[in-house]
Amino acid sequence: MGKVTIPNLLEMKKKGEKITMVTAYDHSGAVIAEKAGMDMILVGDSLAMTMLGHEGTVALTADEMIHHVKAVVSGAKTPLIIGDMVFGSYNESLQQAVHEATRLMKEGGCDAIKLEGGRPDVVKALVTAGIPVQGHVGLTPQTASLLGGFKVQGRNLDAAMKIVNEARSLEEAGAFSIVLECVPEEVARVITETLSIPTIGIGAGRYCDGQVLVYHDMLGLFDKFQPKFVKKYADLGQLAVKALEEYKKDVRQGAFPEEKHVFGGMTREDAEKLK
Ligand code: KIV
Repeated sequence: MGKVTIPNLLEMKKKGEKITMVTAYDHSGAVIAEKAGMDMILVGDSLAMTMLGHEGTVALTADEMIHHVKAVVSGAKTPLIIGDMVFGSYNESLQQAVHEATRLMKEGGCDAIKLEGGRPDVVKALVTAGIPVQGHVGLTPQTASLLGGFKVQGRNLDAAMKIVNEARSLEEAGAFSIVLECVPEEVARVITETLSIPTIGIGAGRYCDGQVLVYHDMLGLFDKFQPKFVKKYADLGQLAVKALEEYKKDVRQGAFPEEKHVFGGMTREDAEKLK
């Protein structure tokens, strides 16, 4: 399979073929995502929590993001790779936004960027500079405290209309796709049916053009909290703990390493002399 392109994604929406996206934050995660045939990999700023142990995403720096994007790019060729714009890297001015997004693509090597919020002015400036942009509306974790925490957004008509209008304005500004996070599925359905670009849902129900999940959530590698919308496909965290416990027991009891794990190869004569 060749590299997934933005026209491929638009075609998938037209054909009603569901688009798959997962986050990955390092080389090995990217290798696994590619082997599983993901259409897109998002190097999400959720890495601040899953990889770096922060309470939220705000503290992540642009340099840290670039470091992780590089690692992901080294592990996957086929999926479209999207780097997330970190908090504070696109809100000071349009020049700052273009500068930071350009760094993400040139230094990190990703194919596109994602940014949170209803900022068509920023999206337009980036697209004009030749940078493909994925929007992100609904729950936007970088500004979660303004939104009242990690809560479902758009539950009443006014709030729903605001999100629909934001999504529309991002499409008009040139975004190639939009992430819809934590909105009622009726809202996601209206947006999906209204826009000609693909919607990618996370906690946005069944009618989006595609879905995204956080790697650590779906594989059981992050247990601080588990949002309702996550389906846990494996419990790798528990498997890893079990494996390490077994390793510890083997080492304590002298059961590891075994003969097959050991290097020999010295002549008996040399070994004697060495003694
Ligand atoms: O940072 C991230 O992982 C995200 C997804 C939740 C869409 O933005």
